[in-house]
Amino acid sequence: MTGSGAETATSAQSAYQKLLEELPRTGPGTRAGEMLRRYWHPVCLSANLKDIPIAVRMLSEDLVVFRDGKGRPGLLGLRCSHRLASLEYGQVREDGLMCSYHGWRYDTQGRCIDMPLEPRDSRLKEKIRHLWYPVEEWGGMIWTYMGPEKENPPPLAKIDVLARTDGEVKLVDGDIRNYNYLNWMENFADMGHAVVLHGLMIRDVPDELKPFNDDSIKNWMPLPLEFVETDYGMKTVSVLDTGDPEVKFVNTWSLAMPIHWRFSGIRSGFPPDFTDERQEGGGMIRIIDDTHFELIRYNLFRKGNFPGAFVVGLPPDLKGTAGKKPYDKRKYSGWEGVPALEDLVLQESQGEIPDRRLEHLGTSDRGVIMMRRIWHKAIEDVANGRDPKGVDRRPKEMLEVDTFHGHVKVDELKIGPENMPSSSDGRGLIRDKNGKLVFA
Ligand code: FES
Ligand SMILES: [Fe+2]
Repeated sequence: MTGSGAETATSAQSAYQKLLEELPRTGPGTRAGEMLRRYWHPVCLSANLKDIPIAVRMLSEDLVVFRDGKGRPGLLGLRCSHRLASLEYGQVREDGLMCSYHGWRYDTQGRCIDMPLEPRDSRLKEKIRHLWYPVEEWGGMIWTYMGPEKENPPPLAKIDVLARTDGEVKLVDGDIRNYNYLNWMENFADMGHAVVLHGLMIRDVPDELKPFNDDSIKNWMPLPLEFVETDYGMKTVSVLDTGDPEVKFVNTWSLAMPIHWRFSGIRSGFPPDFTDERQEGGGMIRIIDDTHFELIRYNLFRKGNFPGAFVVGLPPDLKGTAGKKPYDKRKYSGWEGVPALEDLVLQESQGEIPDRRLEHLGTSDRGVIMMRRIWHKAIEDVANGRDPKGVDRRPKEMLEVDTFHGHVKVDELKIGPENMPSSSDGRGLIRDKNGKLVFA
């Protein structure tokens, strides 16, 4: 009996280790890469795709994105099917993209429509089908689906902020990181880090907030975090006491499979920043390959949202080297105090592809564990011919992703998969016209 129990433990352990090794993979033919190929992925901002083709690496495949002469976007294999010249140097034509070397011309579905150096009656072009993927242009982005249903892909999931028409959406791209995308996604399922890494643990409640909030820091540690699985992925919900027993302060951070994240507070939502200064922001990852990704961040600017600094990206001159001491050999220093940079420095420090077998997880890692379970289930579903979580074949106007942030009455509090109502309704802690915090 003991022996078989030990064997079961060993096989569960080795199954988990196998999962940890396969999780970060992105290429074709890998189990995780096949799972990723069931979703739509961002290729580039619409505004950046003009009359010049752009080489783009996606899910470990080298591709080229372009617009034909009619403005229709297309995504093709980077290297020409003839003698492998890069189509990044191709010429845009009315009906497709022409390789500059010998003139082979492709339409947006990879059909070769001209071979000017071949005899007029040659049928060679009928035998060529160049690598292509379907694209859609929506929400200020070019998107692609790289899975097996190229001719008839499932509908694009229209992430809510990008689908909104009641404000102005700003998108910022170009932040390329040199490590695996899961380092970023797991950071978002691991909200406990915010209190330590972002330095709030050591701060006290400012006097101006004391009338509204419990001023005893010990009541907030460890953080009361709930992790909730949803149709689109998962979310983390924190419910904190305030100075009023009838009112709680609630914040959520959500992940939509497999590359989207959403948040809702201009501030962290952790003590002592209990304000209702709402932000509707988030972003998505363009997965380049196993050890590179691009962050594409967005924010919705509208009435009721905090009109503060545009905090979707890092200033280009911010390299994490401020005040570097001459004997400091670390790549980054002086990054403490800039929350976005704090996350990136620590994620990178985990390794290009962290060896997760060496981890020791605790109870505060429940979100990370939930996320890995969700990813594992998605991989298994795809391997067994099923749609993974978040692939919805019914076209929808909008995929709503919960991002509640603010004060809520105890009897209206819901912690479950359903979305909380927007914190623009009802009472909240906001600044009056003199900048004073008022609960109104
Ligand atoms: S290499 Fe492209 S046409 Fe010859
Ligand atoms: Fe963080």
